[in-house]
Amino acid sequence: MNLETTYLGLKLSNPLIVGASPFSEEVHVACQLQDAGASAFVMRSLFEEQIDAEQRALIHLIETPAESNAEATSYFPAFAEYQLTPDRYLKQIENLRAALSIPVIASLNGCRPGGWTDYAAKMESAGASAIELNLYQLATDPALDAEQVENEMLETVSLVTAAVNIPVSVKLSPFHTSPVNFAVALERVGATGIVLFNRFYQPDFDIEQLEAKSQLKLSDPSELLLRLRWLSIISPHLRGSLSATGGIHSSDDIVKAILAGANTVQLVSVLLKHGPRVLFSLLDGLEGWMKEHEYDSINEFRGAMNLKRCADPAAFERANYVRILQSWRV
Ligand SMILES: Cc1cc2nc3c(=O)[nH]c(=O)nc-3n(C[C@H](O)[C@H](O)[C@H](O)COP(=O)(O)O)c2cc1C
Repeated sequence: MNLETTYLGLKLSNPLIVGASPFSEEVHVACQLQDAGASAFVMRSLFEEQIDAEQRALIHLIETPAESNAEATSYFPAFAEYQLTPDRYLKQIENLRAALSIPVIASLNGCRPGGWTDYAAKMESAGASAIELNLYQLATDPALDAEQVENEMLETVSLVTAAVNIPVSVKLSPFHTSPVNFAVALERVGATGIVLFNRFYQPDFDIEQLEAKSQLKLSDPSELLLRLRWLSIISPHLRGSLSATGGIHSSDDIVKAILAGANTVQLVSVLLKHGPRVLFSLLDGLEGWMKEHEYDSINEFRGAMNLKRCADPAAFERANYVRILQSWRV
């Protein structure tokens, strides 16, 4: 049975990769994940704001906020509060590369064009096999229209891709008016792959203190459905790779993501909940399903349930929407 897959031009032994998370902090944990079967490793992110802060410190301007709005700057963690400083991040790429035989993908997190994007080249020099660029952004300025937001993101992606010779994937939010149009545009400016989707850690309201409460809840499998929908829609239109992240907790979830068109699946919550050894059973389950359905390789069924053969995917989706609402009886 051949579980091999190609992701961002990298040959991987199977589609299960460790998603961006604190797992990259400890080399011995990364080794356990590799030993249990992970085929690649995405590091936790280095943030635009961290790199900006360091660059300002270098020019002795650390006391001067980068933004005209000092309050906005104070929302962010202080420089020392980040788990990895930019220098330590590069050192950690080297450490992981030295200890692991699987590819190490560094993660840059930012969306505005700027000098921070040069860090991609430093990540490449430190040994990263690829870069995952997370474009996390919540547009709240009513003066900023969708085209401006996306143009800035495209410029950022082209700065990063121009700075390196290694492949760059882009981790997207689902909140684009036309995700498929944007994914194709990302390929045009040099992205080699798309990662669907960022999870938004939505604050709850504390109605006693009248405060917003930040919270980080691990995912559950219901979150996969949004990914399946967009993988199925986007995958027929891309030349590059697709990775699913969000809500993958079982081997059935992995099969579904591949049927929808994913080259790889990224796992975080399931690994945080159950530890590295869960990878053994996930791989076993994937192999068992392939055997039962007489598939010898991942490529034989990748994308088998995408919307490639659907003449009008928008009408198909809308028809399903109408039918499901009509099916409810009181
Ligand atoms: C504790 C924690 C830290 C994370 N850190 C990052 C990060 O630094 N960069 C990033 O792009 N995603 C980060 N993520 C998001 C994950 O990479 C992943 O996209 C998300 O958890 C959905 O996958 P899951 O359902 O397998 O958890 C983090 C998630 C968790 C739970």
